[in-house]
Amino acid sequence: MHFLSRSAVFVGIVLARTVIAAPTVLEERSVSPLSASDLSSLAPFTQFARAAYCPTSVLKNWSCGQACSANSDFQVTLVGGDGNGVQIYFVGYSPSQNSIIVAHEGTDPTQFLSDLTDLNILMDPLDTALFPGVSSSVQVHDGFRNEHALTAKTILAEVKRLLSVKSTTTVTTVGHSLGGALAELDALFLTLNLPSTTTIKAVTYGTPRVGNPSFAALIDSKVPNFRRINNKNDIIPIVPGRFLGFQHPHGEVHILSKGNAVSCPGDDDATDAQCQIQSVPNVFVGNILDHLGPYEGISIGTIFCT
Ligand SMILES: *[C@@H]1O[C@H](CO)[C@@H](O)[C@H](O)[C@H]1NC(C)=O
Repeated sequence: MHFLSRSAVFVGIVLARTVIAAPTVLEERSVSPLSASDLSSLAPFTQFARAAYCPTSVLKNWSCGQACSANSDFQVTLVGGDGNGVQIYFVGYSPSQNSIIVAHEGTDPTQFLSDLTDLNILMDPLDTALFPGVSSSVQVHDGFRNEHALTAKTILAEVKRLLSVKSTTTVTTVGHSLGGALAELDALFLTLNLPSTTTIKAVTYGTPRVGNPSFAALIDSKVPNFRRINNKNDIIPIVPGRFLGFQHPHGEVHILSKGNAVSCPGDDDATDAQCQIQSVPNVFVGNILDHLGPYEGISIGTIFCT
């Protein structure tokens, strides 16, 4: 019975899509493929996002195996969190990227998916003590907001310190899954709290929707250098649903297969079949295993800290 009702929903959606899909042929906006060098330039950030799943004991001396050795010149200066009450995070300086890096750990995908498909998800305004000047019409998932607030001030203080002692003006936030949502919030938070001479970038992986369309518009305007990388048929990037008032900002990169990824235009409204909302129109047709990667050969998650 359960299966039948799912099938009925699925068939309904397929029919609806067929009807809706026809006019998109005439759409002007199109995807652009990433070049091989653009794709490989993401690998160091993928490894930072992966490293954030490693225990703090090995992050402190940057000995977390492949994820650390892939960025062997990284100077880690702050490690925090416990992976339980507070997601693990680290801050440091990467000479080869000429950037300060802020990375956040993600969480168990299956539990995360069930949390994000909960129809009672709350959205709340950002705390203006952390996000000065942001309108109360800008709203985000309250769980993400609260988790971000736990580490925000500590991270800001360390980033300020590093900006004063390292010869860089660039800060890059990274994370996968819940860590991607935290990195998205950190990118806005750091932009609003650091001098305008600072360049803030964000590279996130398998990121859920974080806030409402006003939040997405704010990221678009304040964090132009934002990339959220989705792998194949991962479900997490399509939750919480748009019908609940959530919307991604710009910056989608969709990995279709190894060596083959496209940059998708717009804010979560792509009409090209290669973009996430078209290839995974609903949670029943996605694959949660794609959440773990591989992102261009690199898998991310607790079991991939080796
Ligand atoms: C790093 O710290 C871990 C945990 O304390 C320890 O086992 C390891 O030997 C250390 N590695 C180096 C290279 O110092």
